[in-house]
Amino acid sequence: MACSQKKGCGSAPPATSGDARSSGACCNSYPEPDDTHGAVQDYYGRVLTTSADLKTSACTASGRPHPVIQAALARVPAEVLDKFYGCGAPVPLGIAGLRVLDLGCGSGRDCYVAAALGAASVTGVDMTPAQLAVARRHAGEYAQRQGLAEGALRFVEGRIEDLEGAGVAPASADLVISNCVVNLSPDKPAVLAGAWRALAPGGEMHFSDVYADRRLDEAARADRTLWGECLAGALYLEDFRRLAAAAGFADPRALHAAPIAVRDDALAAAAGGARFASITFRLFKLAPGLLENAPEDYGQTAVYKGSVPGHEDAYALDCGCVFETGRSVRVSGNTAAILSSSWLAPHFEVSGDRSRHLGRFEESGVGWPLGNVSEDAVGAASARPCCS
Ligand SMILES: C[S@@+](CC[C@H](N)C(=O)[O-])C[C@H]1O[C@@H](n2cnc3c(N)ncnc32)[C@H](O)[C@@H]1O
Repeated sequence: MACSQKKGCGSAPPATSGDARSSGACCNSYPEPDDTHGAVQDYYGRVLTTSADLKTSACTASGRPHPVIQAALARVPAEVLDKFYGCGAPVPLGIAGLRVLDLGCGSGRDCYVAAALGAASVTGVDMTPAQLAVARRHAGEYAQRQGLAEGALRFVEGRIEDLEGAGVAPASADLVISNCVVNLSPDKPAVLAGAWRALAPGGEMHFSDVYADRRLDEAARADRTLWGECLAGALYLEDFRRLAAAAGFADPRALHAAPIAVRDDALAAAAGGARFASITFRLFKLAPGLLENAPEDYGQTAVYKGSVPGHEDAYALDCGCVFETGRSVRVSGNTAAILSSSWLAPHFEVSGDRSRHLGRFEESGVGWPLGNVSEDAVGAASARPCCS
């Protein structure tokens, strides 16, 4: 796992309100929606035939999947795997019984994997008929082999900016996944808002995508190949945090991050020196107000039960927030809320409430910078593992 987020999950999202896009704070120069949809459809339906045709590593998976995922992948039909253009591993373990929705499923690889992990139902949405045809071709036989109920693995045509239009009902998913797709959308706020609506309370959007270290200039954004390769539409990381917060997803958690190599010299020049990374984020749909815009300390703790299959020894909520099984960990109010109010709740024992506020949550347990804290208190606090 290459991930530079500091231990203790320090970076909290900035406070925002309203739609960051319409406020002009960011993302105000995407191409016209229909224009972009057509170009992307052409790229994935006609220009690319397999992942070998890609010009950058943006649309290829990074890192070695977990052994449980590898075992599931071994059962996925070869034609589906050949047309995989994802940039990460957005299917978490422990999803048996959950309703899964994949935004921009392409040929369906992650849907097939989610089905193999025991999801109650899996729906893939994509707008490119050629990709959907591959996803659907093998679904019946695969579902039968996996012993899935009729219709439990299905693929629907539609745009991820209009999930209701694609037949996705509000609150009908426990887990929304997506792999290297949101960057391709000309209307990212609509995608995030739609994911929020599609999720049931306590659900999670768990998705891998490409991010940039800056806002790209007009020329880069207008480059069709750069867009198709998942780079020109990549969100500047801080703009992503703002958009996520505006959609209701406070406190995004980064789980994996890996740099992306732009191998083609012309594309690298067109990108104007920007650096890109594939990042898997976790966004939780909790009741409004439960997630604060900074980690706060209420003296709460959490213990992981070791009950997620494949994560028997430890569980990573994010890059810096890893729970060893059976070990009590100090947690911020936000982490306590995620672990007690999301689909992860059966796997954690969370103690304490918010009746007593101890200040901002810091890794050392001492957020107040003005002293007046005994050496003993500092030592005792830093000896315990913690998780903002
Ligand atoms: C980089 S590929 C990733 C496909 C798939 N997630 C995978 O991992 O192989 C992007 C996919 O997103 C789809 N897509 C892009 N923008 C979309 C949109 N606005 N609505 C629906 N599908 C979209 C494309 O048709 C294409 O299949």
